Amino acid sequence: MRNPLKDPLDRRLQKIAGPSGLILFGVTGDLARKKLLPAIYDLANRGLLPPAFSLVGFARRDWSNSDFENFVRESIRSNARTHWSESVWSQLAKGIRFVSGNHDNPLAFAELRRVVQDLDSERGTAGNHTFYLSVPPRDFPLVITHLQDSGLANANSGQFRRVVIEKPFGSDLDSAKTLNAVVERVFPPDSVFRIDHYLGKETVQNILALRFANQLFEPIWNSKFIDHVQITMAEDIGISGRAGYYDGIGAARDVIQNHLLQLLALTAMERPESFEPTQLRESKENVLAQTKPPTNLGLHTSRGQYAGGWQGGEKVLGYLEEEGISPASNTETYAALRLDIDNSRWRGTPFYLRTGKRLGRRVTEIAVVFKRPEHALFGRQAVSQLGENALVIRVQPNEGVTIRFGSKVPGPAMQVRDVTMDFAYGHAFTEDSPEAYERLILDVLLGEPPLFPRQREVELSWEILDPVVEAWSKQKVIEQYTPGSWGPDSANQMMSIDGRSWRRP
Ligand code: BG6
Repeated sequence: MRNPLKDPLDRRLQKIAGPSGLILFGVTGDLARKKLLPAIYDLANRGLLPPAFSLVGFARRDWSNSDFENFVRESIRSNARTHWSESVWSQLAKGIRFVSGNHDNPLAFAELRRVVQDLDSERGTAGNHTFYLSVPPRDFPLVITHLQDSGLANANSGQFRRVVIEKPFGSDLDSAKTLNAVVERVFPPDSVFRIDHYLGKETVQNILALRFANQLFEPIWNSKFIDHVQITMAEDIGISGRAGYYDGIGAARDVIQNHLLQLLALTAMERPESFEPTQLRESKENVLAQTKPPTNLGLHTSRGQYAGGWQGGEKVLGYLEEEGISPASNTETYAALRLDIDNSRWRGTPFYLRTGKRLGRRVTEIAVVFKRPEHALFGRQAVSQLGENALVIRVQPNEGVTIRFGSKVPGPAMQVRDVTMDFAYGHAFTEDSPEAYERLILDVLLGEPPLFPRQREVELSWEILDPVVEAWSKQKVIEQYTPGSWGPDSANQMMSIDGRSWRRP
């Protein structure tokens, strides 16, 4: 008889992480409170954490274990995806500890080591530890060095040490290399997990399924049939109190270097030989290496800053009026660029990327826009209301896929108009999609690397972006755009010189 516990084909079973502890630096920050702590609870609630699991928070606050426990509980109650269960919580709470200290204090790291060792024996975490750095990038080297000096980074045989680094991975190619040198001096490459949370989203993982598990799309997935691709990540919020991080970084470094270029890579890459992590990552790296920075930066890029005004019936501040932003700041909150991929599949099919804060609405999508048929069988009048065929991957919200094509309008005349065919996750599946961080944290604990970019991907992405941000940094003036709009005028011009226009999602 089949043993379901041993049968890898039994899809009802998800893998459960083995005994391990997670040490979270920057635990009082927004990311930890809103995403990481709730995701840990959601995993526990789904039965995917081992009983021998511990969570150690490390931060400056002068907190006791029970202060921290209250903080974790509050974060979970406000932000978790799954329902509250007192028994799941009490099991999790038994392994929660707090260590108070600065990132430059060796004594705090010595204390951390003591706490972690105690947990190993009390909770059975077996010397397996993951260090999650949700801290400002300037502190990465400090934390890593202290992990080494305190002995925390050393594993005995049969144990693991892993490190998780939140973006940004540097602020340009050089700083990314420097950061990596610091990290890899202490942790071997296969223990380093670089988080790009877009890769944890179900809809993003579905790009590969859509392309490679079907016969329908791949044969036409090239420049013979596809006119261009538009990748949009629009947000309706402003910088949400993150001035310290955002100013001087800007939209391109914040999300194009990572999230949008990852979406481009998954959309454009060649079929990997298998889903082996190395092959998947190599496919992405190959296409990123063939993606060229815009040749004409004046014509093929656009940037802007949101002005103050009204958005959705609410008065909102302009970027320069936000707390903590210098009134002379040149940082962009909107960025768009045209990228071309120099390979036989994509030569002649541009990829347009855009992102911005305080835009019309929150939407992330990949729109693959097809060429029009070569022969005009129908008269101009018949197709006057027909747009281009498009396949739109709706990453969020309203997750799903839409196909837009022409159909005859019922009636005596031959009139063809756009219609859509829709797949919505909410209708097709009964299961809710897990949050990106649930999937990513679980993969780190399991030691499964495919969803984490390697250093090579990070560097290739900076190679694409560096010339753009460098040129922008020399511009004294930055275009303003109205909140609730779809960005600066130059973004529309960038498309119209190519005879195209942005979609209104
Ligand atoms: C982060 C950026 O990586 O992604 C933020 O730093 C942005 O500026 C956020 O708001 C958006 O994430 P999501 O999952 O809400 O699209």
